[in-house]
Amino acid sequence: MPFLDWVNKNQAQEASREVPYHLLKQEAVYGDSAENLLIQGDNLLALKALIPFYAGRVKCIFIDPPYNTQSAFTHYDDKLEHSQWLSMMYPRLVLLRELLAEDGSIWVTIDDNEAHYLKVLMDEVFGRKNFIANMVWQKRTSRENRAAVGSAHDHILVYAKVTAVNWKEFRNTLPARETGFKNPDNDPSGEWRAIPFTAQGYRKNQMYEIDTPSGKVVTPPRGRCWGATEQSLNQLISEGRVYFGKSGDAQPTIKKYKGEESGLVPMTWWTAEEFGDNTAAKREILELFENDDTPFGTPKPENLIERILHIASNSGDVILDSFLGSATTAAVAHKTGRRYIGIEMGDHARTHCIPRLQKVIEGEQGGISQAVNWQGGGGFRFCTLGEAAFDEHGRINVAVKFATLAAYVWHFETGEPSQQTFDQPLLGIHNGTAYYLLYNGILGDRRPASGNVLTHAVLQAINDIFPHAGRKVIYGETTRLGAARLAAENITFKQIPYDVKMR
Ligand SMILES: C[S@@+](CC[C@H](N)C(=O)[O-])C[C@H]1O[C@@H](n2cnc3c(N)ncnc32)[C@H](O)[C@@H]1O
Repeated sequence: MPFLDWVNKNQAQEASREVPYHLLKQEAVYGDSAENLLIQGDNLLALKALIPFYAGRVKCIFIDPPYNTQSAFTHYDDKLEHSQWLSMMYPRLVLLRELLAEDGSIWVTIDDNEAHYLKVLMDEVFGRKNFIANMVWQKRTSRENRAAVGSAHDHILVYAKVTAVNWKEFRNTLPARETGFKNPDNDPSGEWRAIPFTAQGYRKNQMYEIDTPSGKVVTPPRGRCWGATEQSLNQLISEGRVYFGKSGDAQPTIKKYKGEESGLVPMTWWTAEEFGDNTAAKREILELFENDDTPFGTPKPENLIERILHIASNSGDVILDSFLGSATTAAVAHKTGRRYIGIEMGDHARTHCIPRLQKVIEGEQGGISQAVNWQGGGGFRFCTLGEAAFDEHGRINVAVKFATLAAYVWHFETGEPSQQTFDQPLLGIHNGTAYYLLYNGILGDRRPASGNVLTHAVLQAINDIFPHAGRKVIYGETTRLGAARLAAENITFKQIPYDVKMR
């Protein structure tokens, strides 16, 4: 497969492997629940900090990164040299892929400045077979008179963790339409919509003549065949489902009654009328912050994000936006019962995101609120990036608590996200192996070195309190047990910090 190359690509690739783990520092909790997360900080570090806890757990990632339009917006700069922009995106996409669930998908808005390079970059990171679609979203309906050619659409590149063929079973269809139903023939079954009874191409058993009620004989239009065999058509006629027009002499159409239509398969053509546009998004922001002198300049409309989350996720799923801007994704996820993580580097994380989400908790009625019957409630945690968890020699920062190191160790050993509460030496059992961590005196002061050293007494305590018949992996400061005893007990001992291998 051909790959995109650019100046310093090697460093960008290295950056994705070398990002240090940082701790997340909780600053405040808003509302009555802390399950949602707003992080202020550079998303490269923030995404890495999330890996031990959220790897493979995020159902839908939506990002709206700076498009590299060479503009300086009020709240952020959008002016990188082309290679630098690619180097900025690459390691972030690698980390985002790691966070994506097996049934998850990532949606990225972009315009013509970088769209075609981003497509090739994402092919490399997510796989060409994992490319789902390039949605064409009509972002403006008015003409840009100063431009040579006015830009009226953005691209939304969509990739899944699985291949496109397999992702079909994970995505939701859009609600069937409620308009366009009539009853010109007073059908006792009620209003209906006409579906054309033709199909593209030539199929021999769908190329017959049809006698219409008026006596006129009709044949398929040029280049097309009928929508089904003659036998199927006769069945539909006997059910009263075929309409030949007012005068009974037109080509047949099939009646679909109200409520009968199944969900609509999403298409790549996203109109402003159906999905909202930039003007709608700006109006939403102005209504939310009436007295704001510096309204956020490049928001997305809530409707657009709602459609994406509807297709790609269900209530309760985890949503991630690592270029959060004015928190549109978080607000929509909140109102539609998803859990979310939003990351924003700028000060507007505090000046715009927090107040917007507080208003959502209070039940604000802008954006999609009325359509989804939003009444308020819920909450979120606000965090900033804390110190690095490990220094350059791999030594553990003293600020790292037992539960945090446990999460890293568990994820490193099992590849699974750390969702359990870590408050005892036994972290869990995975594929028949029990993992233990002796750190920060988790066994209490009664034991040597506060229980951080694997002695005969500590092993006895472990066997008494957390017995496990199979293989054991035990992390500790050191061990006083000899190789023979460790082997007899089926223990693999790993020394902190040297064996805590953080990528
Ligand atoms: C186009 S805006 C997103 C707008 C958002 N979709 C909305 O509806 O408001 C891009 C955002 O990404 C943020 N950003 C850029 N680089 C970042 C980084 N490295 N880490 C975190 N945020 C970043 C910018 O500060 C800006 O707010």
